[in-house]
Amino acid sequence: MTLPLHYWLVSLGDLVLSLRSNHMWQIASRSRTSADVNIAGRARKLMRSAFLRLARLHTHLSPTPLRNIRNMSLKTIAVLDQSELQDGQMKEVEFESGKVLLSKLGDKVFATSAFCTHYGAPLAKGVLTADGRVVCPWHGACFNVCTGDIEDAPAPDAIHSFNTHISDGKIFVTADPSRTTSEAKSRPPKLLASGFEGTVGGTAKNGVVIVGGGSGGFHAVESLREHGYKGPITMISKEVYAPIDRTKLSKALITDASKLEWRSPADLKIKYGLSMRTGTEVTSVDTSKKSLTLNTGEKVEYDTLVLASGGTPRKLPVEGADLKNVFTLRGVQDAVGIDKACQEGKRLVVIGSSFISMELVVAVSKRKMASIDVIGMEEVPFQSVLGKEVGAGLMKFHKSQGVTFHMQASVDKLVPASSDSGSVGGVVVKGQTIPADVVVMGVGVAPATEYLKAPQSVGFRVGGDAKTLSTGENMEKGGAVIVDEYLRVKGVKDVYAIGDIAMWPQQGTGELRRIEHWNVAGNQGRAVGKTIAGSEQPFVKIPVFWSAQGQQLRYVGVGAEFEDVIMQGDPGEMKFVAYYVKGRKIVAVASMQADPVVSKASELMRVGLMPSPEEVRAGKDLLSVDISTEGAKARIGA
Ligand SMILES: Cc1cc2nc3c(=O)[nH]c(=O)nc-3n(C[C@H](O)[C@H](O)[C@H](O)COP(=O)(O)OP(=O)(O)OC[C@H]3O[C@@H](n4cnc5c(N)ncnc54)[C@H](O)[C@@H]3O)c2cc1C
Ligand code: FES
Repeated sequence: MTLPLHYWLVSLGDLVLSLRSNHMWQIASRSRTSADVNIAGRARKLMRSAFLRLARLHTHLSPTPLRNIRNMSLKTIAVLDQSELQDGQMKEVEFESGKVLLSKLGDKVFATSAFCTHYGAPLAKGVLTADGRVVCPWHGACFNVCTGDIEDAPAPDAIHSFNTHISDGKIFVTADPSRTTSEAKSRPPKLLASGFEGTVGGTAKNGVVIVGGGSGGFHAVESLREHGYKGPITMISKEVYAPIDRTKLSKALITDASKLEWRSPADLKIKYGLSMRTGTEVTSVDTSKKSLTLNTGEKVEYDTLVLASGGTPRKLPVEGADLKNVFTLRGVQDAVGIDKACQEGKRLVVIGSSFISMELVVAVSKRKMASIDVIGMEEVPFQSVLGKEVGAGLMKFHKSQGVTFHMQASVDKLVPASSDSGSVGGVVVKGQTIPADVVVMGVGVAPATEYLKAPQSVGFRVGGDAKTLSTGENMEKGGAVIVDEYLRVKGVKDVYAIGDIAMWPQQGTGELRRIEHWNVAGNQGRAVGKTIAGSEQPFVKIPVFWSAQGQQLRYVGVGAEFEDVIMQGDPGEMKFVAYYVKGRKIVAVASMQADPVVSKASELMRVGLMPSPEEVRAGKDLLSVDISTEGAKARIGA
């Protein structure tokens, strides 16, 4: 058999690299200086990228995609009796030492990776719909079971899809066993093999510039390449690291950015052709000249601009708010400060009983702190979002962990410590001082859009609130950017806004709303990426969020100003499903320890088959509604 040239290039590259890096590593180890180790590391990276580029260049000229050349050890294995998989069913099956997910749609059987690329949940425990989507049971990620493509965030990567056939009553899967393990579940981006014009001397000019390295920006990059955008992509981020999993900051207080980064800057460059400018702030945008100004004074031009600058945590405007050891939490530096201050024997006061504050309380609750106090405006935490019953249930849990609540209270001021007038020593509430060595304010975020309001910015006009904006105004007074259903900023060309800063018309009502969820920002990034790549995609996803409050809380829909709650189970036992009712419809569902009810609800809302409040009150189980079989196809509009 004659092997193609790129096979030899990659193999030769690997061989030289391993010999070379081994040699340099030995030199570095002998002299034990970090400079030598760095030289070895750099040399290794340089050589690897040179060979990858050579191989990619050759792949351009070759009909055989690069990713296929590693398919050297395909195996075909009978994994299940045909009779054991019914229409609309999923099953996880063994494949040598790995696992494969089988999904049956009508009479066709599909095989994919068995694990979600977000945090690795078993997809077989999720929800399959007749139009070929599998929704993860945990946080709303969705994949296409026919192709492995990502359908919804927060999936950071697609999954593998494998060939199947049926013979003698058995289902056979053909796969490389090394791709069926949970570590190898991710499929590389589609464009990897064909290259990017921006990085191999093509015709694109300024390309896409993204302001912000958060959820929206991260998912936009993936979507641009996955949907075939070949031009340059530049991401400018104030943060000093590549996009991180921000949601883990409050759940685990991780202080090492490299443990939170979704991909390293090198990976983003090599696999996605992304030019990443970290530690850089955009100070103004001129939409008439299609250019941005950076804090260095440098100008950056764009063909298309994506604004994804997220939120700035609010600080209460009270006396003492600037004392030492008073924190907000948005980035890794904040987590470093909080982690250092929240040590054994210290007293923590959290202002605001929001999701982030209460996650932080859980994260530090095992640190033997002298006291943890929470100050909240409502009767119970989360009341406006989850209702009184769920809030009271979660409060009971937090109290059992030693947390003291001061509810229906607002902060008068923060006072300094008697031993150090520069550091916080207490929080005054209703005339009483709650002692504190550390204070964390979780009192909401404002859209991070100051740079759009700068005098040098052109194209942005701030009006009143969302209901009173006049023509020509594209920012509301709170700083949100107004976009249409394609997330295009009103009144300016080739500019999109996504994520925490974007206010978009809600499906059905047209009401302008801003929603601060990881998945909303991610799915908006994905929609914009697809639109810019050439297939116009309105934003139509149902919002999903999650939180860690002793147990995993899942939530889907838009329950703002709900009128009634239908409760199944007991929030006090942290095991329940809550249905939020507004205008005689179920508009949101929250759950704990009831997977995959929320994933099922998200699909029922998507296809317009969510049962009515009366049906749910009468005992209808969401999991019993058929949206998976051939028979359901017409009803779900597939
Ligand atoms: C601690 C924490 C925990 C959370 N947990 C959850 C959760 O469990 N589930 C959930 O659904 N949501 C959660 N969220 C909310 C979620 O993280 C946000 O909704 C999401 O990150 C919004 O994405 P984004 O891209 O709009 O903004 P961000 O992710 O905030 O990214 C904005 C980026 O823009 C950069 N930036 C801002 N201004 C400029 C500028 N002028 N120039 C250059 N760069 C700039 C920032 O540095 C940042 O890199 C959490 C948020 C926090 C802070
Ligand atoms: S593990 Fe699948 S969405 Fe998080």
